[in-house]
Amino acid sequence: MKIDIITVVPELLSSPFSHSILKRATEKNLLSINIINLRDYTTYARAQVDDYPFGGGAGMVLMPEPLVNAIESLKKLTEYDEVIYLTPDGKSFNQQMANRLSLKNNLLLICGHYKGIDQRVRDHFITTEISIGDYVLSGGELAAAVLTDAIGRLIPGVLNDESSALSDSFQDQLLAPPVYTRPEVFRAWSVPPVLMSGNHQLIEEWRYEESVKRTKERRPDLLQ
Ligand code: ADE
Repeated sequence: MKIDIITVVPELLSSPFSHSILKRATEKNLLSINIINLRDYTTYARAQVDDYPFGGGAGMVLMPEPLVNAIESLKKLTEYDEVIYLTPDGKSFNQQMANRLSLKNNLLLICGHYKGIDQRVRDHFITTEISIGDYVLSGGELAAAVLTDAIGRLIPGVLNDESSALSDSFQDQLLAPPVYTRPEVFRAWSVPPVLMSGNHQLIEEWRYEESVKRTKERRPDLLQ
């Protein structure tokens, strides 16, 4: 899979993909992430990419021309399955969307900044608008990093058996059960004995019950 990300702050995206699971995914050539600087596509003086909103009001808006130049140049090289704009008024991102997007070949992510992007770009070039939560970030970059991480780790072959996605929270509408590791007793707090029993069926039953209990307590909405 290829994920191309258009941003005015490429520096914000230099590190999140260079470690751990996503690093392994890119090293294994299962994922390629390209950061595209919007300023490379502007024809305005001093690499301007934004301007004041028509009608007045606070903040700046990313102008259509540099964005469309960037999108159209990239589209000449790659056929995108989805062109995604990260925005707080988009559809709420969840594990199901991550699962669905992890099966695509090529994604183009667009990060807004300041007050967002000109509506005409949204109307004519964006196929999906996604929010990572009901709060406003200063730009779409951290949201793009969240999406890329959540999607990238699900690409077949990226996770090893040890960190399999099947036992993640949300995969079956349940939160994940508690986990423990060595030592068996730490400051007089013991690991639940069932986990030391060696009985895999009992362990799976215990994990399922704990998942249901935790979901009922913390996220009853998931069980509906
Ligand atoms: N850009 C700013 N805030 C955002 C959010 N919550 N989700 C996605 N993109 C954003």
